[in-house]
Amino acid sequence: MNETRYNEIGLYTAMRTLRAVRRLRPDPVPATVLQRVLEAASWAPTGGNVQPWRAIAVRERALVARLGELYAARWRAYSVQHMAQLEGAPEALRAKTERMLDAGNYLADHFADTPVVLVFCFNPKIMAITDIEQKRVSVVGGASIYPAVENALLACRAEGLGCVLTTLLCEVEPEVRELLAIPEPWATAAAVPIGYPLRRGHGPISRRPVAKLAFNDRWGTEFA
Ligand SMILES: Cc1cc2nc3c(=O)[nH]c(=O)nc-3n(C[C@H](O)[C@H](O)[C@H](O)COP(=O)(O)O)c2cc1C
Repeated sequence: MNETRYNEIGLYTAMRTLRAVRRLRPDPVPATVLQRVLEAASWAPTGGNVQPWRAIAVRERALVARLGELYAARWRAYSVQHMAQLEGAPEALRAKTERMLDAGNYLADHFADTPVVLVFCFNPKIMAITDIEQKRVSVVGGASIYPAVENALLACRAEGLGCVLTTLLCEVEPEVRELLAIPEPWATAAAVPIGYPLRRGHGPISRRPVAKLAFNDRWGTEFA
């Protein structure tokens, strides 16, 4: 790994500025940079260290364009639904959501120009899924995939690349499978459009404070 090609930012700075960047420039991402992003993904933990994920770096223009058509159709459906849910919501929330939807519309309209889309795939047959018998939706399998995705996002942050974790293409998995020749039983977990930011790129994020997210010893207690 070539350590000298970029200025490494602090880990905490990277995490607290890793916001969704949906407006990307079409300029290509150098292969060495992409290699480092994927190497960061490869460092993620997985159940039993099996690494039941793979990433397809989609750069061929026709493939990205087709992914863009599929994505835009799903995005339109999602954003209409999302706006409808905001009827009567406080003005500040409406304004914030509208900003997010504007950026989302930009991504949908320009998806075809994205220099690289990382499509993360997983193999459910070789994953440790310890909650599979529970009578609720199973999530543990995802823990052998999404840490790798997050590592890739953090590496993009370090490289000055904009990116956003997207999952809307999972709604049209059969089409994506055929397009990218993904064999059964591999399936899709996320698509991450990557490119240099058009505007400021990463920056401040808005999240609930720890006091609202963490407890002390028992559920519902105040974390101190
Ligand atoms: C599981 C998951 C799925 C997501 N899917 C999409 C998506 O399909 N399209 C999109 O534009 N953003 C998607 N996002 C990005 C979120 O909308 C974003 O992280 C969230 O709104 C917080 O935005 P911020 O990081 O800019 O503060 C997804 C994020 C997660 C974690």
